[in-house]
Amino acid sequence: MSKPFFITTAIDYTNGAPHIGHAYEKVLADVIARYHRLKGGEVFFLTGVDQHGQKVQQSAEKQGVAPQQFVDDITKKFIALWQKLDISYDRWAATTDPLHKTCVQEILQRLFDEGQLYKAKQGGYYSVRQEQFLTDKERNAEGEFGPEWGEVEFREEENYYFKLAEHKDWLLAFIDSHENYITPAFRRSELRNAVDRLAGDLCISRPKSRLTWGIGFPFDPGFVTYVWFDALVNYISFAGYDPKSKTQDPKFTALWPALHVIGKDIMIPAHGVYWPIMLKALGFTDEQIPPLLVHGWWNIAGEKMSKSTGNIVDPDALADKYGNEALRYYLMSDIATGKDADFSEERLVQRYNTDLANSLGNLLNRTLNMAQRYRSGKLAPKTEVAGAPDFASTLAAYRAQFEGTVSNSAPAYSIHLALGEAMSSASLCNQLIESVAPWKLAKDPAQADLLDAVLYTLAESLRIIAILISPVLPKAAQNIFAQLNWDKPFSLADATWGGLPDGHTVGSPTPLFPRIEEPKA
Ligand code: MSP
Repeated sequence: MSKPFFITTAIDYTNGAPHIGHAYEKVLADVIARYHRLKGGEVFFLTGVDQHGQKVQQSAEKQGVAPQQFVDDITKKFIALWQKLDISYDRWAATTDPLHKTCVQEILQRLFDEGQLYKAKQGGYYSVRQEQFLTDKERNAEGEFGPEWGEVEFREEENYYFKLAEHKDWLLAFIDSHENYITPAFRRSELRNAVDRLAGDLCISRPKSRLTWGIGFPFDPGFVTYVWFDALVNYISFAGYDPKSKTQDPKFTALWPALHVIGKDIMIPAHGVYWPIMLKALGFTDEQIPPLLVHGWWNIAGEKMSKSTGNIVDPDALADKYGNEALRYYLMSDIATGKDADFSEERLVQRYNTDLANSLGNLLNRTLNMAQRYRSGKLAPKTEVAGAPDFASTLAAYRAQFEGTVSNSAPAYSIHLALGEAMSSASLCNQLIESVAPWKLAKDPAQADLLDAVLYTLAESLRIIAILISPVLPKAAQNIFAQLNWDKPFSLADATWGGLPDGHTVGSPTPLFPRIEEPKA
């Protein structure tokens, strides 16, 4: 039996409502998951929410509600949004889940017993207002901690540390010898440089005096777990990992490792430094270190989205306004995986109207209309077209070009390119219609075979295009199949010529992508 494809996303912080960045990542992972299913593979897709930590505790206090209540309310918004966007995840990872808490505690206990954790006292600058220790990153251009931190004092605190530095050489060697560890490749040197600079261990506890909203230390009641240490464990806790067992459960090893889909901001240090070292310390082999797919960010007019700027884009409202597939299409077609892009509602509308309404939707509508009008919907595939040798070669050339775009449409994670190829195929079909003008052929009984050949070619092209776009636009694909009257279970292997049988009858057209009125400038 082949291994299921295990894919995860980052788990989203529940200290605010989901925004467009969260939605992008979930759609990206969903499309990759659906593509694997389309190829006939088994998939395990894990996503969820990161519910502990200082920020949540502070936000809950501000609202005067218990932190569990606070995260439950926000978690509901994430779940509802993923449902609205058709995110086909198999398991939900919420870090307040008792199963996860137990796993984190057992990992802490094991690392402690095996000498990977130690307790130490360290001093640092502490912001009383923000209730956090400050590092040099928080200093302003003058080298000082700005007024936003309020009163800053030097404090000493006892905490538990994880021996990160001990594994530095191993991690460097691992990065050097695993070319495919990180996609896109240019991020690998960025990570290597960061690991090279690594000095010191990782503080993984917070004293309960300043943070209670976290997973308690099993061997010291005075502490809770640092939120990143807790959150990273979700990838294995929800996949059935048992920290107590010396040999890993076959159900877990059958799944592991996952492909982690994450944003560029959380590669260093969390996913590229802490996480591989945590796994190494737990006895995972090099082959079990999970690869990272690091995506870029959606910005607004070149600026970072942020609550303080007030430029947060709400995916829920966009899905309501334009439809979930319009949003999915935009998020997948207007960014190159790994790079940043600018979010623009006008672009969303433009891309939808140009690619989906004018090109693909129109093609379906014209094809079915003509098939109904000239043939009552009944297709007759013709390979030989009597009396029109030129035309036969034109169709053959069309086929070759079409199949070229089809076979180009499966690059690993470059979904925008795959969609571009599918849309080029639709344009090709529209050009075919313009060049042969079936309405002229319909007037001449001597051209009947030719007309059959053209109609079949168009319907068959639509069927193949629908298969190719189905990971991004599952509902539209189903709608195209329904209108073509082609209702068999399908896989990527069906995206080859000849799937519609001789004599097949297609349905009547109903609008697939109604045009969106452009917002007035
Ligand atoms: N809770 C952590 C992840 C823990 S994973 C063990 C976290 N949460 S987050 O809510 O801040 O971000 C979740 C994901 O959304 C991250 O991968 C992050 O990169 C991504 N994005 C956040 N803003 C984004 C954009 N503006 N654009 C694209 N993705 C963005 O980090």
